[in-house]
Amino acid sequence: QSRAKTPEDIRNAKGGAPLVSLTAYTTPMAQMMDDHVDFVLVGDSVGMVLHGLESTLGVTMEMMILHGQAVARGLKTAMMVVDMPFGSYEETKEQAFRNAARILRETGAPAVKLEGGVDMAETIRFLTARGVPVMAHIGLTPQSIHTLGGYKVQGRGAAAGKLMADARAVAEAGAFAVVLEKVPQGLADAVTAQLKIPTIGIGASAGCDGQILVVDDMLGLFTAFKPKFVKRYGTLGEDGEAAIAAYAAEVRARQFPGPEHVFSDVERSA
Ligand code: KIV
Ligand code: NA
Repeated sequence: QSRAKTPEDIRNAKGGAPLVSLTAYTTPMAQMMDDHVDFVLVGDSVGMVLHGLESTLGVTMEMMILHGQAVARGLKTAMMVVDMPFGSYEETKEQAFRNAARILRETGAPAVKLEGGVDMAETIRFLTARGVPVMAHIGLTPQSIHTLGGYKVQGRGAAAGKLMADARAVAEAGAFAVVLEKVPQGLADAVTAQLKIPTIGIGASAGCDGQILVVDDMLGLFTAFKPKFVKRYGTLGEDGEAAIAAYAAEVRARQFPGPEHVFSDVERSA
Protein backbone atom coordinates (compact mmCIF):
# COMPACT_ATOMS: atom_id res chain seq x y z
CA GLN A 1 0.00 0.00 0.00
CA SER A 2 1.62 3.23 -1.13
CA ARG A 3 1.04 6.55 0.59
CA ALA A 4 1.32 9.97 -0.94
CA LYS A 5 4.83 11.39 -1.01
CA THR A 6 5.50 14.45 1.16
CA PRO A 7 7.75 17.52 0.89
CA GLU A 8 10.05 15.83 3.43
CA ASP A 9 10.35 12.78 1.15
CA ILE A 10 11.37 15.11 -1.66
CA ARG A 11 13.89 16.95 0.54
CA ASN A 12 15.36 13.62 1.71
CA ALA A 13 15.83 12.42 -1.88
CA LYS A 14 18.90 14.67 -2.14
CA GLY A 15 21.83 12.62 -3.41
CA GLY A 16 19.71 9.53 -4.18
CA ALA A 17 17.98 8.40 -7.36
CA PRO A 18 17.01 11.37 -9.56
CA LEU A 19 13.60 12.86 -8.78
CA VAL A 20 11.14 12.72 -11.66
CA SER A 21 8.52 15.39 -12.15
CA LEU A 22 6.07 16.71 -14.73
CA THR A 23 3.41 19.37 -14.76
CA ALA A 24 -0.28 18.44 -14.90
CA TYR A 25 -3.44 20.51 -15.06
CA THR A 26 -6.24 17.94 -15.35
CA THR A 27 -7.41 14.72 -13.68
CA PRO A 28 -6.63 12.33 -16.57
CA MET A 29 -3.09 13.71 -17.04
CA ALA A 30 -2.50 13.36 -13.30
CA GLN A 31 -3.76 9.76 -13.39
CA MET A 32 -1.51 9.00 -16.36
CA MET A 33 1.64 10.03 -14.47
CA ASP A 34 0.83 9.18 -10.84
CA ASP A 35 2.72 5.84 -10.91
CA HIS A 36 5.74 7.26 -12.71
CA VAL A 37 6.69 10.56 -11.10
CA ASP A 38 7.71 11.64 -7.60
CA PHE A 39 5.85 14.92 -7.71
CA VAL A 40 3.43 16.72 -10.00
CA LEU A 41 3.52 20.48 -10.45
CA VAL A 42 0.33 22.33 -11.19
CA GLY A 43 2.37 24.97 -12.99
CA ASP A 44 1.20 28.43 -13.93
CA SER A 45 2.33 27.31 -17.39
CA VAL A 46 -1.35 26.22 -17.48
CA GLY A 47 -2.11 29.74 -18.70
CA MET A 48 -0.03 29.32 -21.85
CA VAL A 49 -0.50 25.59 -22.39
CA LEU A 50 -4.25 25.23 -21.78
CA HIS A 51 -5.67 28.75 -21.91
CA GLY A 52 -3.73 30.25 -24.82
CA LEU A 53 -2.25 33.18 -22.85
CA GLU A 54 0.91 34.87 -24.19
CA SER A 55 2.73 34.59 -20.85
CA THR A 56 2.06 33.39 -17.29
CA LEU A 57 1.27 36.91 -16.07
CA GLY A 58 -2.48 36.57 -16.67
CA VAL A 59 -2.88 33.46 -14.51
CA THR A 60 -5.13 33.91 -11.46
CA MET A 61 -5.57 32.26 -8.06
CA GLU A 62 -8.92 30.94 -9.29
CA MET A 63 -7.25 29.18 -12.25
CA MET A 64 -4.58 27.62 -10.03
CA ILE A 65 -7.15 26.40 -7.52
CA LEU A 66 -9.51 24.97 -10.15
CA HIS A 67 -6.69 23.07 -11.90
CA GLY A 68 -5.17 22.09 -8.54
CA GLN A 69 -8.46 20.50 -7.49
CA ALA A 70 -8.66 18.60 -10.79
CA VAL A 71 -5.09 17.27 -10.45
CA ALA A 72 -5.62 16.29 -6.80
CA ARG A 73 -8.46 13.97 -7.87
CA GLY A 74 -6.06 12.09 -10.16
CA LEU A 75 -3.19 11.46 -7.71
CA LYS A 76 -2.69 8.67 -5.18
CA THR A 77 1.08 8.51 -4.55
CA ALA A 78 2.83 11.37 -6.32
CA MET A 79 3.12 14.60 -4.34
CA MET A 80 1.38 17.70 -5.65
CA VAL A 81 2.87 21.21 -5.71
CA VAL A 82 0.85 24.21 -6.88
CA ASP A 83 2.41 27.36 -8.37
CA MET A 84 1.56 30.68 -6.75
CA PRO A 85 0.48 32.94 -9.64
CA PHE A 86 1.94 36.36 -10.46
CA GLY A 87 0.72 39.01 -8.03
CA SER A 88 -0.39 36.58 -5.32
CA TYR A 89 2.76 36.63 -3.12
CA GLU A 90 5.18 39.44 -4.04
CA GLU A 91 3.55 42.34 -2.18
CA THR A 92 4.06 41.24 1.44
CA LYS A 93 4.82 38.01 3.25
CA GLU A 94 1.37 38.24 4.82
CA GLN A 95 -0.26 38.38 1.38
CA ALA A 96 1.84 35.37 0.39
CA PHE A 97 0.73 33.42 3.45
CA ARG A 98 -2.94 34.26 2.92
CA ASN A 99 -2.87 33.03 -0.68
CA ALA A 100 -0.67 30.00 0.05
CA ALA A 101 -3.03 28.97 2.84
CA ARG A 102 -5.94 29.28 0.45
CA ILE A 103 -4.17 27.04 -2.09
CA LEU A 104 -3.41 24.37 0.54
CA ARG A 105 -6.92 24.56 2.00
CA GLU A 106 -8.84 24.50 -1.28
CA THR A 107 -6.72 22.03 -3.30
CA GLY A 108 -5.31 19.76 -0.60
CA ALA A 109 -1.78 20.25 -1.97
CA PRO A 110 0.90 19.98 0.74
CA ALA A 111 3.19 22.60 -0.86
CA VAL A 112 3.40 25.66 -3.08
CA LYS A 113 6.06 26.90 -5.49
CA LEU A 114 7.01 30.55 -5.97
CA GLU A 115 9.54 32.36 -8.14
CA GLY A 116 12.46 34.34 -6.73
CA GLY A 117 15.75 34.04 -4.84
CA VAL A 118 17.31 36.52 -2.42
CA ASP A 119 14.32 38.87 -2.84
CA MET A 120 11.82 36.16 -1.81
CA ALA A 121 13.87 34.56 0.99
CA GLU A 122 12.07 36.42 3.77
CA THR A 123 8.70 35.30 2.35
CA ILE A 124 9.87 31.68 2.07
CA ARG A 125 11.02 31.79 5.71
CA PHE A 126 7.66 33.28 6.80
CA LEU A 127 5.65 30.58 4.99
CA THR A 128 7.73 27.60 6.09
CA ALA A 129 7.64 28.81 9.72
CA ARG A 130 3.83 28.82 9.47
CA GLY A 131 3.15 25.40 8.00
CA VAL A 132 3.53 26.00 4.28
CA PRO A 133 6.31 23.98 2.61
CA VAL A 134 7.82 25.97 -0.26
CA MET A 135 9.54 24.87 -3.45
CA ALA A 136 11.62 27.74 -4.82
CA HIS A 137 12.21 28.55 -8.51
CA ILE A 138 15.26 30.53 -9.66
CA GLY A 139 17.18 31.22 -12.87
CA LEU A 140 14.69 32.00 -15.62
CA THR A 141 11.55 32.99 -13.73
CA PRO A 142 8.84 33.51 -16.37
CA GLN A 143 6.71 35.79 -14.15
CA SER A 144 9.59 38.33 -14.34
CA ILE A 145 9.81 38.18 -18.11
CA HIS A 146 9.43 41.96 -18.49
CA THR A 147 12.28 42.78 -16.08
CA LEU A 148 14.48 39.91 -17.35
CA GLY A 149 13.95 41.16 -20.91
CA GLY A 150 13.27 37.79 -22.55
CA TYR A 151 13.45 34.03 -22.06
CA LYS A 152 17.27 33.86 -22.06
CA VAL A 153 19.79 31.71 -20.18
CA GLN A 154 20.33 33.01 -16.63
CA GLY A 155 23.58 33.04 -14.63
CA ARG A 156 26.17 32.99 -17.41
CA GLY A 157 29.52 34.65 -16.72
CA ALA A 158 29.37 37.45 -14.18
CA ALA A 159 25.74 36.60 -13.34
CA ALA A 160 26.78 33.22 -11.86
CA GLY A 161 27.40 34.75 -8.43
CA LYS A 162 23.88 36.15 -8.20
CA LEU A 163 22.36 32.79 -9.21
CA MET A 164 24.43 31.01 -6.55
CA ALA A 165 23.39 33.64 -3.97
CA ASP A 166 19.71 33.09 -4.90
CA ALA A 167 20.14 29.32 -4.49
CA ARG A 168 21.80 29.68 -1.09
CA ALA A 169 19.18 32.20 0.08
CA VAL A 170 16.15 30.01 -0.71
CA ALA A 171 17.76 26.91 0.84
CA GLU A 172 18.74 28.86 3.95
CA ALA A 173 15.18 30.28 4.17
CA GLY A 174 13.77 26.76 4.38
CA ALA A 175 12.69 25.79 0.85
CA PHE A 176 12.51 21.98 0.57
CA ALA A 177 13.69 21.97 -3.07
CA VAL A 178 14.54 24.48 -5.78
CA VAL A 179 13.79 24.52 -9.50
CA LEU A 180 16.68 25.74 -11.68
CA GLU A 181 15.34 26.93 -15.03
CA LYS A 182 17.56 27.69 -18.03
CA VAL A 183 20.83 27.81 -16.08
CA PRO A 184 24.18 26.77 -17.65
CA GLN A 185 25.16 23.16 -16.94
CA GLY A 186 28.33 23.80 -14.93
CA LEU A 187 26.62 26.36 -12.72
CA ALA A 188 23.66 24.01 -12.15
CA ASP A 189 26.13 21.30 -11.08
CA ALA A 190 27.88 23.74 -8.74
CA VAL A 191 24.56 24.76 -7.15
CA THR A 192 23.59 21.08 -6.80
CA ALA A 193 26.89 20.39 -5.02
CA GLN A 194 26.53 23.42 -2.73
CA LEU A 195 22.94 22.95 -1.54
CA LYS A 196 21.61 20.43 0.96
CA ILE A 197 18.18 20.50 -0.76
CA PRO A 198 17.39 18.89 -4.13
CA THR A 199 17.78 20.91 -7.31
CA ILE A 200 15.15 20.23 -9.96
CA GLY A 201 16.42 21.07 -13.42
CA ILE A 202 14.59 22.32 -16.49
CA GLY A 203 17.12 23.39 -19.07
CA ALA A 204 19.83 23.01 -16.40
CA SER A 205 21.90 19.80 -16.05
CA ALA A 206 21.57 16.00 -15.99
CA GLY A 207 23.51 16.31 -12.73
CA CYS A 208 20.61 18.02 -10.94
CA ASP A 209 18.87 16.02 -8.20
CA GLY A 210 15.75 15.83 -10.38
CA GLN A 211 14.19 16.92 -13.65
CA ILE A 212 10.88 18.53 -14.58
CA LEU A 213 9.18 19.19 -17.94
CA VAL A 214 5.86 20.67 -18.97
CA VAL A 215 3.84 17.56 -19.82
CA ASP A 216 2.19 19.06 -22.92
CA ASP A 217 5.68 19.91 -24.24
CA MET A 218 7.09 16.40 -23.77
CA LEU A 219 3.99 14.75 -25.22
CA GLY A 220 4.15 16.95 -28.30
CA LEU A 221 0.72 18.30 -27.44
CA PHE A 222 1.83 21.95 -27.11
CA THR A 223 3.47 22.89 -30.39
CA ALA A 224 3.23 26.71 -30.56
CA PHE A 225 7.02 26.75 -29.87
CA LYS A 226 9.66 24.37 -28.49
CA PRO A 227 12.37 25.57 -26.10
CA LYS A 228 15.81 23.91 -26.60
CA PHE A 229 15.49 22.14 -23.24
CA VAL A 230 12.31 20.30 -24.27
CA LYS A 231 12.55 16.73 -25.54
CA ARG A 232 9.42 15.46 -27.24
CA TYR A 233 8.66 11.88 -26.21
CA GLY A 234 5.39 11.78 -28.12
CA THR A 235 3.46 13.35 -30.99
CA LEU A 236 0.02 13.72 -29.39
CA GLY A 237 -0.68 17.02 -31.15
CA GLU A 238 -0.15 15.45 -34.60
CA ASP A 239 -1.89 12.23 -33.58
CA GLY A 240 -4.86 14.20 -32.29
CA GLU A 241 -5.18 16.25 -35.46
CA ALA A 242 -4.96 13.10 -37.61
CA ALA A 243 -7.72 11.48 -35.53
CA ILE A 244 -9.93 14.56 -35.88
CA ALA A 245 -9.34 14.67 -39.66
CA ALA A 246 -10.29 10.96 -39.92
CA TYR A 247 -13.49 11.58 -37.96
CA ALA A 248 -14.40 14.58 -40.13
CA ALA A 249 -13.82 12.56 -43.31
CA GLU A 250 -15.93 9.62 -42.08
CA VAL A 251 -18.82 11.87 -41.05
CA ARG A 252 -18.77 13.60 -44.44
CA ALA A 253 -18.72 10.17 -46.18
CA ARG A 254 -21.52 8.86 -43.91
CA GLN A 255 -19.12 6.13 -42.71
CA PHE A 256 -19.52 7.20 -39.09
CA PRO A 257 -21.51 6.22 -37.12
CA GLY A 258 -21.28 2.56 -38.16
CA PRO A 259 -23.82 -0.20 -37.40
CA GLU A 260 -22.03 -0.92 -34.09
CA HIS A 261 -22.57 2.65 -32.85
CA VAL A 262 -26.33 2.93 -33.39
CA PHE A 263 -29.42 1.48 -31.70
CA SER A 264 -32.03 -0.81 -33.23
CA ASP A 265 -35.66 0.23 -33.03
CA VAL A 266 -36.66 -2.98 -31.24
CA GLU A 267 -35.04 -4.25 -28.06
CA ARG A 268 -32.85 -7.28 -28.76
CA SER A 269 -32.47 -10.19 -26.35
CA ALA A 270 -28.90 -10.45 -24.90
O1 KIV B 1 4.77 26.54 -14.57
C1 KIV B 1 5.58 25.60 -14.83
O2 KIV B 1 5.30 24.69 -15.63
C2 KIV B 1 6.86 25.61 -14.13
C3 KIV B 1 7.86 24.55 -14.51
C4 KIV B 1 8.34 24.75 -15.89
C5 KIV B 1 8.98 24.46 -13.54
O3 KIV B 1 7.09 26.44 -13.31
NA1 NA C 1 5.60 28.11 -13.16
